[in-house]
Amino acid sequence: MKETNATDNIKVGIDKINFYTPNHYLDLVDLAEARGVDPNKFLIGIGQSKMSVAALDQDIVAMAANAAEPMLTDNERQEIGLLVVATESGIDQSKAAALFVQDLLRLSANLRAIEIKEACYGATAGIQLACDYVRSHPGRKALVIASDIARYGLATPGEVTQGAGSVAMLVTRNPEILAIEPESFYESRSTGDFWRPNYSTVAFARGKFSEEVYVGMFEELWDKAQELGSANPESLQALLLHIPFSKMGRKGLRTLGNGKIDEADYMRLTERFEQSIVYGKEVGNIYTGSIYLALLSLLENDESLKPGDRIGLYSYGSGSVAELYFGTLQPGYTQRLDAQTHRAMLDGRERLSMSEYEAMFSAELVRDGSEQDLGRSDHAANAPHYLAGMKAHERQYR
Ligand code: HMG
Repeated sequence: MKETNATDNIKVGIDKINFYTPNHYLDLVDLAEARGVDPNKFLIGIGQSKMSVAALDQDIVAMAANAAEPMLTDNERQEIGLLVVATESGIDQSKAAALFVQDLLRLSANLRAIEIKEACYGATAGIQLACDYVRSHPGRKALVIASDIARYGLATPGEVTQGAGSVAMLVTRNPEILAIEPESFYESRSTGDFWRPNYSTVAFARGKFSEEVYVGMFEELWDKAQELGSANPESLQALLLHIPFSKMGRKGLRTLGNGKIDEADYMRLTERFEQSIVYGKEVGNIYTGSIYLALLSLLENDESLKPGDRIGLYSYGSGSVAELYFGTLQPGYTQRLDAQTHRAMLDGRERLSMSEYEAMFSAELVRDGSEQDLGRSDHAANAPHYLAGMKAHERQYR
């Protein structure tokens, strides 16, 4: 559990949020038919309908910059003193993805730019670090960007749970969207539920075991928070859970059914949960950004929430680190949202055939130092940043 200290009464949290997903998707009914699976297994059993597919020119750096670009003012570009890119799809073993993103976003040089990795938990580590940073640095802001491409491989059990996208969040004092409480509940425990060795471009998972660890850690943290008075269900208007696929979040939430919490509270959390999975069901797993896509989905699709409402967030990263924390919606938070643009981005994506998807999945960057010109797959106005190619072992961004 987090220690409390003198700066805890300074209000900090998420002031702006935006997301970007590449402009290609695979319809999961097409995937089911190609793999000889009943489509209902994917649509109902897994709870997903589409997944975004990233072409080579939308790597995690380009996506991160595209997510943050539209939400930053010129002043904010100077005020950001901490830039965190959270990812488990890193493009370099040494240089932080945040440095490429700093450049593309034209941020000031007077900042700390780092990359954080811990599977799907990375962005939450970034958010907590950012909250501490803005508490102790008056006048400075922090930009946290979760950016990932989930890859399990063609015709694997995990294939249906792939996806791609980025969520960018500006963390400030006196935030306009969500004030984050200083007290939070977390746990780290080394497990072998999901991992990706350095030599592999796809992740490996012990699928069922990973579900057990996810649910088990949620139950432990919930009980702890409830024991200490933080998870009082009556005070909670919504509970967000990490969404690798919507059924997973549902399984976590269901542990609160069966009389564990009052029926009316359970019903309210279940209804709001439906709004939190609207975007994720069409995008797929974006690993560390998934829970923040769920936050945006809830805020942009639920019209019954209001300022002052308290929200819980359960972040889970395989390997495993989990954290349960809470925040309060701020007055005027709806002014910070842009449901129309996000809906247009999702609906404007190009549907891929199975062969186009498989070709896009299998495409690779050169590894021998030769020059490679990628051409551009994504001409959407919301994707100004892209990877143009490779030259002498270096990625060339435009
Ligand atoms: P699978 O072996 O294909 O699944 O793998 P299944 O055969 O158990 O079926 C899945 C569900 O579909 C079952 O429901 C079936 O009953 C149902 P459940 O028992 O789970 O409630 N089903 C049907 N429903 C309706 N109509 C039908 C039908 N047929 C079957 N006709 C699995 C599924 C998720 C394990 C696999 O996709 C996988 O390994 N995914 C990757 C791992 C993963 O996402 N784990 C989640 C927890 S770990 C986590 O969240 C962290 C992560 O994001 C990584 C990180 O931290 O970086 C993954």
